[in-house]
Amino acid sequence: MENETIYILAIESSCDDTAAAVLINQKVISNVVATQKIHEQYGGVVPELASRAHQQNIVPVVHQALAKANIDKKQLSAIAFTRGPGLMGSLLVGTSFAKSLALGLSIPLIEVNHMQAHILAHFIEDDDISKMPEFPFLAMTISGGHTQIVLVKDYFDMEILGESLDDAVGEAFDKSAKILGLRYPGGPLIDKYANEGNPLKFKFPKPKVDGLNFSFSGLKTSILYFTQKAVKENPDFVNENLNDICASIQYTIISILMDKLNKAVKQTGIKKIAIGGGVSANSGIRKALKDAEKTKGWSTFIPKFEYCTDNAAMIGIVGHLKYKQGHFSDQNITAQPRYRLSE
Ligand code: KG4
Ligand code: ZN
Repeated sequence: MENETIYILAIESSCDDTAAAVLINQKVISNVVATQKIHEQYGGVVPELASRAHQQNIVPVVHQALAKANIDKKQLSAIAFTRGPGLMGSLLVGTSFAKSLALGLSIPLIEVNHMQAHILAHFIEDDDISKMPEFPFLAMTISGGHTQIVLVKDYFDMEILGESLDDAVGEAFDKSAKILGLRYPGGPLIDKYANEGNPLKFKFPKPKVDGLNFSFSGLKTSILYFTQKAVKENPDFVNENLNDICASIQYTIISILMDKLNKAVKQTGIKKIAIGGGVSANSGIRKALKDAEKTKGWSTFIPKFEYCTDNAAMIGIVGHLKYKQGHFSDQNITAQPRYRLSE
């Protein structure tokens, strides 16, 4: 068992990306993601459409992952899948598919918590192995669905120190972008325009939330009122100031995140910071973390872009780690839309 080569097929379908990956031990051999374009026109993910699209995508995506890896399904050691958290209709597609495939192949089934996977993505073996964080470290997961600061004591020993009480940070980006008339998902667009703008041009209030928790809904409202007022005075305000507005929004969001990280470091004495989730792609947070390495002596860990946004490789690495520990699931397992990290 110790030197066994472990082949994991991983499936992720928690939100609007249908993804499959093959891992041989801790290395990713293939990583396929079908992003559902259908939601763009609605300005956000429509759950009913997401589950239908997963249903259409799942077979070709899994085939592609196996073909790219040049692996026959008979070689697989186990199937790992996202059990939650996420949208029920979306999770059901991946869960049912994984259960059937594991049953058909008579191999173990491994359930994975999506938020744990965003954190454990740091243990995917890449060319640069020195980049793995050592326990204990702090993880900040920042995505369209979640905002958490987590104390990671071991692979499967994690404690949530703080989280958003309302909107996730990705939602703050996306909803602000929508107010500015940008298409969904607006996070990457705000990032793009922010690079050309002045972050100190406009001031938005930062929420006052105790401890390590976050709140982003007030920021969204203040951006809405600010924009409505300015457009009343000058209908071209957004067009004329887009770069500066985006830079100012991004600056505010990043300083909210960095304030809490600073607090978490002070509280725990831990200076190893790993981030994960789609918002980790943001150039502002990346720069702020790099700066903190120099000014505060932090060690920071940012996964490769394809392991930041929703993907199945991160589900696969959890599958691998659980396989080694013999953590398997039985066929009675069901999807769990509200799946806490510490469960
Ligand atoms: O992890 P993810 O792919 O899916 C969820 O689990 O939510 O994260 C998607 C979120 C979206 O809100 C998107 O706008 C945001 O990540 N995002 C960004 C950037 N790239 C993706 N936000 C800010 N700057 C970016 N460069
Ligand atoms: Zn995610």
